[in-house]
Amino acid sequence: MSAAALASHYDVERIRGDFPILETLVRGRRLVYLDNAATSQKPVAVIKALREYWETSNANVHRGVHFLSMKATTQFDKARETVRVFLNASSTQEIIFTKGCSEGINLVAASLFSTASPKSSHGNGSLSPLEPGDVLLVSNMEHHSNIVPWQLLAARTGAIVKPIPITDQGEIDQNAYDDLLGQGRVRLVAVNHVSNSLGTINPIKLMSQKAHAIGAFVMVDGAQAGPHLSIDVQDLDADFYTLSCHKIYAPTGIGVLYGKKTLLEAMPPYQGGGDMIRTVDFSGTTFAELPFKFEAGTPNISGVIGLGAAIEYLASLGQGESLREKLVHSFAQFSDHENRLARQAEDQLRQVSGVRIYGQAKEKASVISFTIDGVHPHDIGTFLDAEGVAVRAGHHCCMPVMTRYGIPATARASFALYNTEADVEALVKAVSNVKEMFA
Ligand SMILES: Cc1ncc(COP(=O)(O)O)c(C=O)c1O
Repeated sequence: MSAAALASHYDVERIRGDFPILETLVRGRRLVYLDNAATSQKPVAVIKALREYWETSNANVHRGVHFLSMKATTQFDKARETVRVFLNASSTQEIIFTKGCSEGINLVAASLFSTASPKSSHGNGSLSPLEPGDVLLVSNMEHHSNIVPWQLLAARTGAIVKPIPITDQGEIDQNAYDDLLGQGRVRLVAVNHVSNSLGTINPIKLMSQKAHAIGAFVMVDGAQAGPHLSIDVQDLDADFYTLSCHKIYAPTGIGVLYGKKTLLEAMPPYQGGGDMIRTVDFSGTTFAELPFKFEAGTPNISGVIGLGAAIEYLASLGQGESLREKLVHSFAQFSDHENRLARQAEDQLRQVSGVRIYGQAKEKASVISFTIDGVHPHDIGTFLDAEGVAVRAGHHCCMPVMTRYGIPATARASFALYNTEADVEALVKAVSNVKEMFA
């Protein structure tokens, strides 16, 4: 469908009606919520699903033989299938529930290279323990969640974390990446699908192919792709992919780790406890099948059910026969709508003297990082808030990105499916006012 056709079908006012919090007045002004990269607002469908769960289905899952437990388990298992479709994974065994994107990455960092058998190998790489000097390549535009777990792993093993440089435009320098892949024993590449600080959409499929060609695994942080792109993990072919579900209109405290089944099967458990075992005896313990092997303890049942409701809500905004088709259509509409607003906002912000925009990648999502000469980003955030405009100010948990551009922080406006042209106008007007006030 063409961009014009997508736009003509998109009824943003109707969608806004599904998000009660957008009615909020901020000191008498209309809320302009542009902090969606930090967390998104929740539709009535999710709020209702949570309420219904607590009122009619609350019980522990996978343990009970009673009515409520079976009801909760059915809903919980259904949500896993919904997530499988969302990611186009081939099996629900590849869908691990976590508490967030960070936990998914920590799980992989703790388990991937810790197999007992030094010879274990998998199609794309070797699971054998890291050796001193082994290389973990981490892009320079990662959130701290996709840097620090690798640094901790490197500190335990003697491996080296090497940054993959980014260009002035905010794209991964593919020539430098090619060179780095050829230097030393590279065991893993860690990269985000969409950068939360620059908005760059990274070429994951290409980067995975290159990494696999030299026997390295690929860990993708999909926290910021989840709300904007239709994700197909089979097509991307990365080994691991994480989601931060509160950014995709679901509750906080729930995340997803996708991993290729054969790889997850070969990896040892991350945490021990209830639900992740088959048998326990003091002579030895055997572990449950995937995905339960990686889900010790009582899961975030309401969070998972809320996540299922969020994905179904997103699908309900699209057209198609199957859930997958609806999602693909929905996300084509979302990215068309959000990108149009973000590019409009960028064009107008550039007209305000002293505004600098960081991140000019050719492939970019609806995230705008900017500074105003002579104004600290925290002051930008505070003055915008006075006009009802919510943006984020700070390093966005991407200190290496700030260092790369020689700045301490930026202000960041990030768009979601419910933002409007009126939001763009309010943002640009508020930024112009800040500029005038400090001039
Ligand atoms: C790119 C990116 N990665 C990771 C995270 C952390 O996600 P979580 O809070 O779910 O662990 C965020 C959150 O802002 C993010 O934007």
